[in-house]
Amino acid sequence: MKFQSLAAHISLVLSLLALPLGVSAGLYGKAADLPNVSYDFIIVGGGVGGSVLANRLTENPATKVLVLEGGSSNEDAFETKVPFFVTRIPAEYTWNYTTTPQVGMYNAEIPFPRGFVLGGSSSINGMFYTRGSSDDFDRYAEVTGDPGWTWDNVQTYFKRNEKWTPPADGHDTTGQYDPSLHSTTGMTSFSLSGHHQALDPMVFQAGQELGGIFDFKLDYNDGRPLGLGWLQAAINGSQRSSAATSYLAPQYINRPNLHVLVGARVSRILKTGSGSAFQAVEYTQDVVNGPLSTFTASKEVLLAAGVIGTPQILLNSGIGDSGYLSSIGITPLVDLPSVGRNLTDQPTTGCLWNVRNDADTFDPVFQDEAVLDSAMDEWNNDGTGPLVVTPIGQVAFYRLNDTELADLGVPAGVDYAAGPNTPHLEIAIGNGFVSPTPPPGKWLTISTNLVSATSRGSVTLDTTGGLDVFRAPHIDPAFYTTEWDIKAMREAVKAAKRFVSAPVFQDYVLEALGPLATAETDEEIEAYVRGYSGTTAHPVGTASMSPRGAQWGVVDPDLKMKGGVQGVRIVDASVFPYNPSMHTMAPTYVVAERGADLIKSTWNL
Ligand SMILES: *[C@@H]1O[C@H](CO)[C@@H](O)[C@H](O)[C@H]1NC(C)=O
Ligand SMILES: *[C@@H]1O[C@H](CO)[C@@H](O)[C@H](O)[C@H]1NC(C)=O
Ligand SMILES: *[C@@H]1O[C@H](CO)[C@@H](O)[C@H](O)[C@H]1NC(C)=O
Ligand SMILES: *[C@@H]1O[C@H](CO)[C@@H](O)[C@H](O)[C@H]1NC(C)=O
Ligand SMILES: *[C@@H]1O[C@H](CO)[C@@H](O)[C@H](O)[C@H]1NC(C)=O
Repeated sequence: MKFQSLAAHISLVLSLLALPLGVSAGLYGKAADLPNVSYDFIIVGGGVGGSVLANRLTENPATKVLVLEGGSSNEDAFETKVPFFVTRIPAEYTWNYTTTPQVGMYNAEIPFPRGFVLGGSSSINGMFYTRGSSDDFDRYAEVTGDPGWTWDNVQTYFKRNEKWTPPADGHDTTGQYDPSLHSTTGMTSFSLSGHHQALDPMVFQAGQELGGIFDFKLDYNDGRPLGLGWLQAAINGSQRSSAATSYLAPQYINRPNLHVLVGARVSRILKTGSGSAFQAVEYTQDVVNGPLSTFTASKEVLLAAGVIGTPQILLNSGIGDSGYLSSIGITPLVDLPSVGRNLTDQPTTGCLWNVRNDADTFDPVFQDEAVLDSAMDEWNNDGTGPLVVTPIGQVAFYRLNDTELADLGVPAGVDYAAGPNTPHLEIAIGNGFVSPTPPPGKWLTISTNLVSATSRGSVTLDTTGGLDVFRAPHIDPAFYTTEWDIKAMREAVKAAKRFVSAPVFQDYVLEALGPLATAETDEEIEAYVRGYSGTTAHPVGTASMSPRGAQWGVVDPDLKMKGGVQGVRIVDASVFPYNPSMHTMAPTYVVAERGADLIKSTWNL
């Protein structure tokens, strides 16, 4: 390195000495260490929404931005880096949420993972890169009255987000995706599997044997995701590519105009001035002892605390259903009854089959210490091997046909998906028992996911024992509380059973695990679904977009808050009025990229 002058050298040395935490100059662990700066924007949450906004808004060196993240830095979060460790993410990097008792699931309270680390849930999720269908976005445009959200119009945001990357093993990917659909110039790496599984060819042979909903799909990211294809995932070579590793990479987080404070738990947004602006953010770095402090944004507060955090902060702030807020002892300041309502998630049912004992599955990685050790060596030394992939290899997305819909009692002309290009169901296939601790034996996993769920739940405050702004809220996705949801998932489990009955699996698959083995009738399969489901962790809808002037919704289509609130936008997955028919990460990147554009255009940045 060659220094231009002694002064530049000295200032570099000084800035290195002043490093607050880890290796990133822009990352702070203590508010007291932050420079005394007046911020234009304060971003609440360092997940997908917050990381993208932080990056895009600080492209202009004059714009000063502070991000408040409740969790820790991702820099030392080892398990978040190794794709195959997705099932072994430590609780330390999550919010430890569980749902309320689910009436549609025999009152089970189920784990509800959300990321508590920079990168948010993109640091802990299954990394599936699925854009959704053209209908999904066209429906957002129609429901919000803003053509800016159409599929055609958001392509530019997918491209800004995506940096297509060759897989870790460098294999020839011809015929495994459609390069013309992908961008190599964006921010976050997406890729095909970098580690061959012995199951891969069998999966596609089964598809050929069965046809129909299992017909080969070259690339489900073309707007019409129907068929069986290779999974694309947010992986860069051997490592997870999260919002933090991409949008907050060192060259961005070290911009002098961007500061990121971790371990900062936000309680409320507060009124500023005499009007209806809420440009102060109240937070603490110690939820037990306090104190609470505030930062004030001169331009806007950008809420990106996620589908659970965002409505919780709004309700704490007196923004929500006034009657509800009064009933729990919070002074209502803005009556927006949709806050925390319409929580919409996608349930998943786990189906497992025992397979031949000489099968080549990934089970030994977590069954045998020696296998894990050698896999770790491979990952460390060469960036290859079984740890470079997420455990799912292929996905099939499909629609029920008219006859099947009629059999399920769906009235003619009604479609619970967004349109004819949109799946009702998903089947995700893994070459082993997708679990941190698989039982002995060799396994095949098929998760069935209900991507067209119609059940709607809520996020409300837990006031047991009095108000506490930091107590986890009540999360009720209301799984399987509509007839469609339980019946459609029942059909998906039947499809999974049909898939493993393909001739290619005849001498491979032995028998299903648990009650699935004997569940034959509709009733038995429905009971299996209610008993063996969880969340895909794709919640949306708790601070929904709606048309300007609508009587419902929380934000206008430009993501500005309704109810006369000034100086606040919401930029996370809570703004989706419906679930996309897919894993929510890629659509959330789109909201964030377009959100950044909308903010820049308001302020001429
Ligand atoms: C921070 O800067 C402002 C002016 O920019 C000044 O008024 C204030 O006293 C400073 N605060 C501290 C703690 O230095
Ligand atoms: C979740 O639990 C882990 C382990 O107990 C803890 O380190 C972490 O701080 C918890 N997360 C939250 C948001 O409290
Ligand atoms: C992917 O990894 C390479 C090698 O470590 C790195 O240079 C590159 O910046 C990463 N790309 C992204 C998008 O994170
Ligand atoms: C829930 O969403 C629907 C649109 O899908 C809307 O019509 C309804 O008003 C919303 N309910 C609330 C309480 O926001
Ligand atoms: C609908 O799907 C079923 C398989 O579940 C199939 O037997 C039937 O032929 C299909 N009907 C039409 C009209 O495609």
